[in-house]
Amino acid sequence: MCKKTYYITTPIYYPSTKLHIGNTYTTVAADALARYKRLTGYDVMFLTGTDEHGQKIQRIAEEKGITPKEHVDEVVAGIKELWKLMNIGYDKFIRTTDDYHIKAVQDIFKKLYDQGDIYKSSYEGMYCTPCESFWTETQLVNGNCPDCGRPIEKSKEEAYFFKMSKYADRLIEYIETHPEFIQPESRKNEMLNNFLRPGLQDLCVSRTSFNWGIPVTFDEGHVVYVWIDALSNYITALGYGSENKELYEKYWPADVHLIGKDILRFHTIYWPIMLMALGLPLPKQVFGHGWLLVDGGKMSKSKGNVVDPVTLVEHFGVDAVRYYLLKEIPFGSDGLFNNEIFIKKINSDLCNDLGNLLSRTVAMIEKYFGGEVPANSEKEAIDDELINLALATPGKVTEAIDELRIPEALETIFNLIRRANKYIDETTPWILAKDDAKKERLGTVLYNLAESLRFSSVLLAAFLPETSEKINAQLNTNNVSFESLKEFNGTVVGTKVKKGEALFPRIDVDKKLAELEALKEAQLAKDKPAKREIAPIKEEITIEDFEKIDLRVVKVLACEPIKKAKKLLKLTVDLNGEERQVVSGISQYYKPEELVGKNVVLVANLKPVTLRGELSQGMILAAATDDGSILKLVDPGDLPTGSIVR
Ligand code: ME8
Ligand code: MG
Repeated sequence: MCKKTYYITTPIYYPSTKLHIGNTYTTVAADALARYKRLTGYDVMFLTGTDEHGQKIQRIAEEKGITPKEHVDEVVAGIKELWKLMNIGYDKFIRTTDDYHIKAVQDIFKKLYDQGDIYKSSYEGMYCTPCESFWTETQLVNGNCPDCGRPIEKSKEEAYFFKMSKYADRLIEYIETHPEFIQPESRKNEMLNNFLRPGLQDLCVSRTSFNWGIPVTFDEGHVVYVWIDALSNYITALGYGSENKELYEKYWPADVHLIGKDILRFHTIYWPIMLMALGLPLPKQVFGHGWLLVDGGKMSKSKGNVVDPVTLVEHFGVDAVRYYLLKEIPFGSDGLFNNEIFIKKINSDLCNDLGNLLSRTVAMIEKYFGGEVPANSEKEAIDDELINLALATPGKVTEAIDELRIPEALETIFNLIRRANKYIDETTPWILAKDDAKKERLGTVLYNLAESLRFSSVLLAAFLPETSEKINAQLNTNNVSFESLKEFNGTVVGTKVKKGEALFPRIDVDKKLAELEALKEAQLAKDKPAKREIAPIKEEITIEDFEKIDLRVVKVLACEPIKKAKKLLKLTVDLNGEERQVVSGISQYYKPEELVGKNVVLVANLKPVTLRGELSQGMILAAATDDGSILKLVDPGDLPTGSIVR
C-alpha cells in the first residue's frame, strides 16, 4: 500500500544578512514536525530555501559593491551551514534563482496574463522596500509602513496588476468553510476582518524601477513582483511548470505552510488567490507562529540584541537550543528568548531529568548486572503505572503533533521521563541490591527503566535527534521504530549497555551568564563603526591665549556673490549697529538669499584683509568635514548681535 504523504514548508528566507534565532525557530519547528511524521510512517517532503530577488537584495549588493548573485551565493552558503548545524533534515532546498523556478514563474505569469487575471496599467503608490510590499495612502500608519513602521517610498510606474477582487468572495467562503485553513484561529479573523471583508485592491505584480528579479517574458523592463515569485516556490519546487510533475502530483496540496505571523497576509490571501486563478488546490493549512522576543522586545541589529544561533550551539549544543525553541516558546504566540531561563531549563529538564535517568540506569545495570540488561521476570503492581504511561505516550505525542502543539508533545515525553525517575525513588534499587533474594526484582526494575528510556528516545528522535542517538548508543539498541512502541518489551534482555559521557553536563548559571555577557560586549564593540582618521589636535594653548580671540554674534544684512571668485560670498553683517563687510568661501554650500536675516558667529578682532579686491573685516565660523563635502555655519540662535561667544 502507498504511504500517506506529508508536505511541510518553511518560508523561503531573504538572504539579506545572517539569520538569527527568530528565523531559526520556524525551521527547527518544521524539522521536528517532518521528523515526527517520518517516524510515524509518512512519506514526507520537507521544503525550505531562499527568496533571492527584489530591490532589498539588489541594494545590499550595490552597497557591498558586488553583483546580487555574488551576494546571495555567499549568504545562502551560510544559511545552508546553519541548517546543517541545527540538524535540519530538509528534503529540498529551493533557491528562487534556480533556472527551473525562474522558468515556471515566467509561465505562471504569462498564463495569468493570457487568461485576463493580470492586466497592464500604471502604478502610483507607496512601497516599503524592507517588506517588499505596496500600500495605499490610507493603509499607512503615521505615514510609515503599517507592518514594520519604517518609512515608505513613493513610486509611479507602468505596471501589471492582478485582479484580486475577482476571487475575494470565493476566498472568503473557502476560509469560512475550512476552519483549519488559517491557524491559530485568532489569525483567521484578523485576515477576514482587516483585509478581506473591507474589499481587496488589485495587486501590483510587476516592477520596472530595478532589475534584480524574474523578467516578464512578454514585456521587457518588467520584473515579477517578488512575492509572486516567492510564493510560487511551494509548487515550482515540486516540478510544477516543468516536464517532470511527479513530485507535484504526489505532494500537492501542502499539508502545512509554517510561517511567522508577519507574512500571513501573503500566504492566506495572495497565495490562495494565485492558486485559484491557476485552477490548483489550496494548501490544507497555513500556520502563523508568533515572534521570538528578547528582553527589550523584538530582535534587531540596531538594538544589539540579536541572538546568534551559532553562538548558542557552540556553548550549549544543538539539542539544548532545539529543546528551548520547541518546548519553551508557546507555539502560535510570542515567546521570550532569555539566557537565564534557557540555562536553567537545560539544568532542570535535560541534565537532571533526562541525563540523570540515563546515567543512573546504565550505571546500575553495569554495577549490578555486569552491564547486561537483566530479564523482567518478577513484575509487581507498582510497575503498571509506569508501563501504562509509557504505552499511552506515543499516541498522546502523535495527537499533539497532529494539531501542531509541539511544546505539549515534548511535555508528554518528559512526563514519562519524570515518571521513570519517580519509579527509581519508589522501587529503591540500591536497597534491593543489598538482598540476594531480590535480585530478580532488581533486574525487573532496571529492565523497566531501560525500556522507558528506549520509549523516550524513540520519540525524542524527532525533537532532539543527536541526543536520541546518544541514548540509543548507551542503551546499545537499534530497535527504534515507532512500531516497537506498541508493546513494552522492545529492549532485548542480555544487551550490553555502554556508559558514555553525560548527555547535558550541569551548567554553572552565574558563571555562564557572565561569560555570555562578556561575549556580547565584545561583539558590540566589534560591530561599532571603526574610528575615522581626523586632523591631529593642535598644540596646547592657555586660557589667556584663547581669550585673545573675540567671537561675536552678528546678523547677515545683505549677501552677494563676488564676480570672478566662484567660491566667495560678500556679506554685510550687523554688529550691534556697526556694519561690517566680510568675505567668506561658502558659496558652494549656501545661496546668498539663504543667509540674509541669519545670525552667524564672527571672529571680530581678526586683522582685516583684502580678498579679490574686497575688504574682509573678520571671519565667519563654520564646521566642515575633512574632505569639504559638507559645511555648516555655526548657528548662535536668535541672540542679540554683539553677544560674546566663548
Ligand atoms: O519573510 N521570531 O523572509 P524573512 C520568529 N522571504 N520568527 C521570525 C522572527 C522572530 N523574531 N524574525 C523573523 C520572508 N521571523 C520572505 C518569505 S515565503 C514565500 C517568503 C520569521 O527572511 C518570519 O516571520 O524576512 C518569517 O516567517 C521567516 O522568519 C523568514 O523571514
Ligand atoms: Mg521579514
